[in-house]
Amino acid sequence: MKKFTCVDDIGPWRDAVKEALEIKADRFAYGQLGRNRTLMMIFFNSSLRTRLSTQKAAMNLGMNVIVLDVNQGAWKLETERGVVMDGDKAEHLLEAIPVMGCYCDLIGVRSFAGLTDRDADYEERVIEQFIRYSGRPVFSMEAATRHPLQSFADLITIEEYKSKPRPKVVLTWAPHPKALPQAVPNSFCEWMNVTDYDFVITHPHGYELAPEFVGQAKVEYDQRKAFEGADFIYAKNWSAYSGDNYGKILSTDRSWTVDAEKMALTDNAYFMHCLPVRRGMIVTDDVIESPRSIVIPEAANREISAQTVIKRMLESL
Ligand code: CP
Repeated sequence: MKKFTCVDDIGPWRDAVKEALEIKADRFAYGQLGRNRTLMMIFFNSSLRTRLSTQKAAMNLGMNVIVLDVNQGAWKLETERGVVMDGDKAEHLLEAIPVMGCYCDLIGVRSFAGLTDRDADYEERVIEQFIRYSGRPVFSMEAATRHPLQSFADLITIEEYKSKPRPKVVLTWAPHPKALPQAVPNSFCEWMNVTDYDFVITHPHGYELAPEFVGQAKVEYDQRKAFEGADFIYAKNWSAYSGDNYGKILSTDRSWTVDAEKMALTDNAYFMHCLPVRRGMIVTDDVIESPRSIVIPEAANREISAQTVIKRMLESL
């Protein structure tokens, strides 16, 4: 595997989940595979889970790990070509990327959407430049439009917890005080759409996701109706994708918060969220603390999705 930015890069999803569960059963079985190899993790944005789980995954494989927080201690990086660099950005990504590639064997990158220029975000300019100029296999630790390590972990978790072959999985928008990218919901849609699950998306009018991510999923604007008979509720906020509203907050309507009354409409569904989560906005305390909340095992599976991807990359060196 030379790159991992979307569901297509993982190949047949059942094989990937099987491999992930084998790794989970014996996560130190490949402890020599990464010996004398170095992973460089580059963060343009903050992280808790991705940083810790990916580093742990690399350590399980015997790798050395370098972590670079671009905005803390490194030169500020210019990402656009053709600009006169007379501002505060001291180095261009086009020099920085190949230099970083000199010091490692694999690269993980986190770079969020700017949420002002939709075309720039959806062209994935930052991670695409890493893929093009680093000379190393590159994986996404959340890019502008997708978060594939999260979605892979979500899929592993659903496969572990499902009690029927074709569970009903509902992605629900929920309110948030800040404008968030569409990366997690886009990616979740993309990964659910390769399965044969009954997949439903629910959100207020105006929060339609890009059609290429929605695919054949059912969109239901009535959240309560969407929840009926669900086996998994996946909550997430995102900002608007459409037209002039791109990146904007159109609603903070707390009637969309996931609460016990709505969960009672489901078929005793499990509650999922990628975390970090804002209690009282996205979900109530009682739902996230309930026995049906699987947000912690979901986060634990981030180590497993990362290890599966890094293992495949090491095997292709
Ligand atoms: N879910 C997730 O990616 O968490 P972090 O932003 O903390 O890495």
